[in-house]
Amino acid sequence: AILGETLKPLAGRTAVVTSGPTHEPIDPVRYIANRSSGRQGHAIAAALARLGADVTLVSGPVTIPDPPGVTTVHVETAQQMLDAATSRLPADIAVMVAAVADWRVASSVGQKIKKQPGEAPPPLMLTENPDILKTVGHHEKRPTLVVGFAAETQDVENNGRAKLARKGADMIVANDVSPGTGIMGGTRNRVKIISAAGVEEWPDLDKSEVAIRLADLIAAKLG
Ligand code: CTP
Ligand code: CA
Repeated sequence: AILGETLKPLAGRTAVVTSGPTHEPIDPVRYIANRSSGRQGHAIAAALARLGADVTLVSGPVTIPDPPGVTTVHVETAQQMLDAATSRLPADIAVMVAAVADWRVASSVGQKIKKQPGEAPPPLMLTENPDILKTVGHHEKRPTLVVGFAAETQDVENNGRAKLARKGADMIVANDVSPGTGIMGGTRNRVKIISAAGVEEWPDLDKSEVAIRLADLIAAKLG
């Protein structure tokens, strides 16, 4: 039993992880999306499962395979991701890694939008999507440990701290997703771990290594 607890410190715990982008339809053939590959979120789901957690991964559209040892739920839009994630509560752990589209088209249409000869391009009216992390962070069934990410191109630490407070998270994994870094869509990541305890800077690591460290940190925090 002692050995089991050492190897599987998250045995008996449940976790919800979001990963990947979301796709927000414009019409039946077009959508709004972003460069997220799902690599970081999927690796975190797998790492939590390896520590014994019962993990549900809510994934947006990605090309990478479902991770082993995890229940994967596939969704397309932010609204579907919110519904799938909150339907898994209560849970002990939430890690919201998805690059959720901040906006969707206010009224997507059922027919393909056609070019109109001689007319201006169609304007896209956007409306804000629900914030999944913020919803979970303030939920009546709030998980014991709520972890979010912060994708920034400037002022990473301050923006990360602001998100920690605004979203009701216990921890924010902040990263610089500026074009030169190759982080968004790439295989490596360089993060700062922001919590009430302060800021910890991790070196440049493979996303799978970031995932293992984060799962270890989560297990340590849950005790
Ligand atoms: N997030 C979410 N739902 C959204 C937007 C963001 O769950 N609709 C989560 C992300 O999964 C991430 C965290 O919130 O864990 C921060 O996402 P980020 O895009 O960095 O922050 P935003 O709050 O969307 O602010 P902005 O994009 O303007 O910086
Ligand atoms: Ca955002």
